[in-house]
Amino acid sequence: MTTTANRPQTEEMVIVHTLFRTHLAALPDLVTAVPDGDRSRAADLAGWLSELLTGLHHHHVGEDELMWPVLASRAPQDRALVLRMEEQHSRIADLVAGCHREGAAFAASGRRTDGGTLAATLSDLNDSLAEHLSDEERHVLPIVREVMSVDEWRALADRGNASIPKERRLVFLGFMLHTATPEQRDLLMTQLPLPARVVWRLVGRRDFARAYRQIYGAGPQW
Ligand SMILES: [Fe+2]
Repeated sequence: MTTTANRPQTEEMVIVHTLFRTHLAALPDLVTAVPDGDRSRAADLAGWLSELLTGLHHHHVGEDELMWPVLASRAPQDRALVLRMEEQHSRIADLVAGCHREGAAFAASGRRTDGGTLAATLSDLNDSLAEHLSDEERHVLPIVREVMSVDEWRALADRGNASIPKERRLVFLGFMLHTATPEQRDLLMTQLPLPARVVWRLVGRRDFARAYRQIYGAGPQW
């Protein structure tokens, strides 16, 4: 993620949120559709879930360390909002821990009952996340554009990018591009250095399609 000329380009965060929202929302149905005892499919879905949850964890820790303190000191009138955001993070962290635990159990057994337990916790997580992400986009990002500097925003974005393992960055770029609006897609592509754009076209697009097919059973529609 980068920035516009003199204000943080907060639309970048909306792109990341959409990735989390879309793919975590799809998981309860995918999990409950796994045939009883199919440990291989359960492990594939649990691995994907774990990757999303780890990404979400880093996204939130970045905000805890680099966003809420800045807002608390520069927008003291919005203190109640920041407190509400921190409480939502705490509830989501508990649900993420539960999903990690239940995902590991489901991968180990492949049992339908374990899948049902995981799907129920995932649904709770999705409810909490829907509320949190929409609050953040509607109420927090406008304040960020007012009070955070471009360099502070870039540091937050860089922290998020650094948390993705190098060998998965192109695949995650694909997931971001896939759920982005055409305008957001243009924003992402113009921010990529030329060599990265070339690598995306040469191998990233294909690697993303393979990863997508492994989860959804069919290639991505663009
Ligand atoms: Fe966020």
